[in-house]
Amino acid sequence: MPPLASSASTTLLRACTRQALPSARTAVTAVSLQRRARSSEASTGSSFESPFGRSTENQSTLKIPSFKKYLSKNGETTNKVFSYFMAGSMGLVTAVGAKATVHDFLVNMSASADVLAQAKVEVALNAIPEGKNVIIKWRGKPVFIRHRTAAEIQEAEETKWEGFRDPQPDSDRVKKPEWLVMLGVCTHLGCVPIGEAGDYGGWFCPCHGSHYDISGRVRRGPAPLNLEVPAYDFPADGTLVIG
Ligand code: FES
Repeated sequence: MPPLASSASTTLLRACTRQALPSARTAVTAVSLQRRARSSEASTGSSFESPFGRSTENQSTLKIPSFKKYLSKNGETTNKVFSYFMAGSMGLVTAVGAKATVHDFLVNMSASADVLAQAKVEVALNAIPEGKNVIIKWRGKPVFIRHRTAAEIQEAEETKWEGFRDPQPDSDRVKKPEWLVMLGVCTHLGCVPIGEAGDYGGWFCPCHGSHYDISGRVRRGPAPLNLEVPAYDFPADGTLVIG
C-alpha cells in the first residue's frame, strides 16, 4: 500500500474515535446512576425493629399515677399522733439549741472577772482625817473624797443655791454631810481640778478657770455643771463603797 493511503486511514480512524468517546462516557454515567438509585431504594425499603417492641397504646401524659401502695396501713389517728410527736420533738430540740446559743453569746459578751473586780472600790474612811481630801482611782477616773468640817458643812448648806448655773442643794449631793464624794473630772472639758483652791474654798480647774465650792457646785468659769456625784454607799460604819 502506498504511504498516502495509510496516512488517510489513520486520520479517519482518529476522527471516528473522537465522535464515539462522549457517547461512551454518557453510557457509563447512566449505568452508575441506575446502580445508586437501586441502592437507595433498597436502603429506604428496610424497616427498623426495636428490641423493646412497639407500644400500641396511646398513653396520655396527664394520667395521674396511683400511690395506693404507699398509703399507711395504720389508722388516721395513729398517723396524726406520730406527726404531732415528731413536730413537737423537733420544736423542743430547736428551742433548746437556740437557748444554748443565746446563753453562750451573752456569757461571751459580759464583762470579765477582772473588769467586774474594778467595778466597785472599797475605801476605809477612818484613814481620812477631818478637813482633808483623798483622791482614789475608780474605773479609770479620779474620785474626790472630802472629809468636811462642821464649818464647811454649814457653809455648803446655807449657801443660796437657787441662782446657780446648775442649781442643787447640798443635801442632794451627799448621803452623810461630813463625806463629800465626787468624780474629779471638770465638767467643762475634763481636766482634773485642784482641791482646796479657788474663790469658794472648794476646787479650782486651772485649764480654763472654773471654780467649784465646798459642795462641788460650779460657781464661776466655763464649766456648765456641778462635779458629778457617782453611785456610792456606806455598807458599814467607816466604810465607803463606790460603784
Ligand atoms: S476643763 Fe476645767 S475649766 Fe475647762
